[in-house]
Amino acid sequence: MGIKKFMIPFILASSIIFCVIIIVTLLLTNPISKFQPVVKPTLTLQSTTNTQYPVAFAYLISSSKGDLEKLKRVLFALYHPNNYYLLHMDQGAPKAEHFELAKFVSEEPVFSQIGNVWIVGKPNLVTYRGPTMLATTLHAMSLLLRSCKWDWFINLSASDYPLITQDDLIHSFSKLPKHLNFIQHSSRLGWKLNKRGKPIMIDPGLYSLNKSEIWWVIKQRSLPTSFKLYTGSAWTILSRSFAEYCIIGWDNLPRTLLLYYTNFVSSPEGYFQTLVCNSEYYKNTVVNHDLHFIAWDNPPKQHPKSLGIKYFKKMIQRNVTFARKFKQDDPVLDKIDRELLRRKHGEFSYGGWCFEGNEEKPARSTCSSLKSENFGVLKPGPGSIRLDSLLTDFCSVRSIRRQCR
Ligand SMILES: *[C@@H]1O[C@H](CO)[C@@H](O)[C@H](O)[C@H]1NC(C)=O
Ligand SMILES: *[C@@H]1O[C@H](CO)[C@@H](O)[C@H](O)[C@H]1NC(C)=O
Ligand SMILES: *[C@@H]1O[C@H](CO)[C@@H](O)[C@H](O)[C@H]1NC(C)=O
Repeated sequence: MGIKKFMIPFILASSIIFCVIIIVTLLLTNPISKFQPVVKPTLTLQSTTNTQYPVAFAYLISSSKGDLEKLKRVLFALYHPNNYYLLHMDQGAPKAEHFELAKFVSEEPVFSQIGNVWIVGKPNLVTYRGPTMLATTLHAMSLLLRSCKWDWFINLSASDYPLITQDDLIHSFSKLPKHLNFIQHSSRLGWKLNKRGKPIMIDPGLYSLNKSEIWWVIKQRSLPTSFKLYTGSAWTILSRSFAEYCIIGWDNLPRTLLLYYTNFVSSPEGYFQTLVCNSEYYKNTVVNHDLHFIAWDNPPKQHPKSLGIKYFKKMIQRNVTFARKFKQDDPVLDKIDRELLRRKHGEFSYGGWCFEGNEEKPARSTCSSLKSENFGVLKPGPGSIRLDSLLTDFCSVRSIRRQCR
């Protein structure tokens, strides 16, 4: 009897303590998994039609010395008031170019009206093939996560160019699940297994004020066994959720891999691939395509071929969103502007937001400025139909089965 009398309060007390522990753990774990970065409202524009765009994109456009004119042109071709544009100019570029870029952005009336074009204020020194490029991309993702609301992050350079308008892109992507990541990948490393997986290199750009080539460590390392290596295209389209996982992840894999890839040559061609495919949470979200048209020599050289007029038809037939790489003011860019983007020199690509004039004579319409009454209006065209047929193919069971192989 005496034991039983003692037991009841004991069970009661221990279950209370147990509940308290559970509640405390819940309180501690919830804010971490549900953490949302502070969203600063940047867009003050009020839509009179009360229409909202279904999805938004955040772009990082990277450039280096001598890229200024290309950067200006691709920004005009990509601009849309509902998206965000973060421009990065290699710290190694001359001061005059940094200054001119800042001047260009601040003097364009539409950019200042909307306030969605920014420059990385403290740019990174970028070494070709070193991890500094990856650091720049992660830096940009973190800045964009903190400052605005978007659904996908797109990484481009000044020598890329769009093949469809932003209205086309917004319209086509609005039909997709928002967790999809476009990361072209493969676990068949081939020659890269020995040439990329084993060598160790150091990028002085991480700690030096001056630019210099990466240097190689004589000793090699063995291939990883705690995760599987993947490789693929450095051009990706990442979901907001995956970007949060990379930057403020609750799991340690993004950090472990980042430290591993610090000494890996051409890390931008492997980091996101290896991360997404080794993550239990994200491996089912990946589409094995980079949505880019890139032409390589046969056998492939270090750099892809520059695209000219003769590639125009091929580019369209692939139904992709971007192509690279282009020389400054190559005639094929004028053809893309005229026929695909309906863009005139110094103006924006065609879109509902800047449309003016006559529906019957859309060729006459110009996109030189914002028509605020049109904010929220989408006018997708043939580019959206092309992209739709490519995207439908990706969402098929056959494609899903090809994930992370
Ligand atoms: C991002 O884009 C640049 C082009 O400027 C490219 O060189 C880089 O490798 C890309 N990818 C990553 C993961 O940084
Ligand atoms: C680094 O650059 C500075 C300024 O451009 C120069 O004075 C210095 O000699 C350079 N140092 C090395 C180690 O190249
Ligand atoms: C591209 O789009 C067209 C028109 O929608 C379609 O007929 C064609 O099969 C598509 N091609 C590819 C490679 O997806």
